[in-house]
Amino acid sequence: MAKQVYLNGELVPQAEAKVSVFDHGLLYGDGVFEGLRAYRGKVFRLTQHIDRLYDSAKGIWLEIPLTREAMADAVDATVAANGLSDCYIRLIVTRGAGSLGLDPRKCSNPQVIIIADSIALYPAEFYEKGLEIITSSVIRNHPAALSPRIKSLNYLNNILAKIEGIQAGCIEALMLNHKGEVAECTGDNLFLVKKGGLSTPSLEAGILDGITRDFVLEIAAEQGVPAVERPLTKHDVYIADECFLTGTAAEIIPVVKVDSRVIGDGKPGPITRRLEKRFREETGK
Ligand SMILES: Cc1ncc(COP(=O)(O)O)c(C=O)c1O
Repeated sequence: MAKQVYLNGELVPQAEAKVSVFDHGLLYGDGVFEGLRAYRGKVFRLTQHIDRLYDSAKGIWLEIPLTREAMADAVDATVAANGLSDCYIRLIVTRGAGSLGLDPRKCSNPQVIIIADSIALYPAEFYEKGLEIITSSVIRNHPAALSPRIKSLNYLNNILAKIEGIQAGCIEALMLNHKGEVAECTGDNLFLVKKGGLSTPSLEAGILDGITRDFVLEIAAEQGVPAVERPLTKHDVYIADECFLTGTAAEIIPVVKVDSRVIGDGKPGPITRRLEKRFREETGK
């Protein structure tokens, strides 16, 4: 059966799911998106993702032509129509087709697209042995220019850092903010463990308000692991006992080397493993 894609209220076969070449999502990256995941047929933290999508849209003056409830139903319907129980879901809202100029008032028809597909995770060996990452020279977008809390269709800032990571032989890269503090990775949030406690940059560092990050903070509290959100430097990363990344696609993934420095004893640490275990219990994986 051909994959069914949700496009503006209808489920259509993948080959028929098309948008205009005049769409400002394509011309300017003018639009917003979410990456979600379903486990055992249930979308993980759906309401949080929908809320973040509408917040991102508000941040760019984009009116989504659906209620939040209708959007959540459309996500569920797309997963069900594809007969998927464990999958990755991409939810996109573009500004719609307009003229070749920037003016968004010329775009009258936002496109709502939902794609449910199999999951492209990092290779399993990275979950076992941990990732090596580098710090990119590409600075995360200044929050006063384009807030990293807006999950917009323009991911060039992250892509440039990702390219630098790839060129250095790493599949993920750490990004600093305009103050030189640790922000986040190109598609994941970052956590450190030091002396039994967690630390992670706060939203003020200019990061995406990650939903997996939020879940990790919740389960840490539940497990009695102290956690602080505070400014972190590269030095804090280098001297951490453990380091891990969080994201919808990556889930929780250990990091064992940063900028050629071995983190802790170079193996995924016990607190990371405990949180991963609790995460798997929640998602049934
Ligand atoms: C830049 C960036 N940071 C962090 C994350 C992790 O956020 P979440 O856990 O909501 O997927 C993502 C992925 O969505 C991202 O693109």
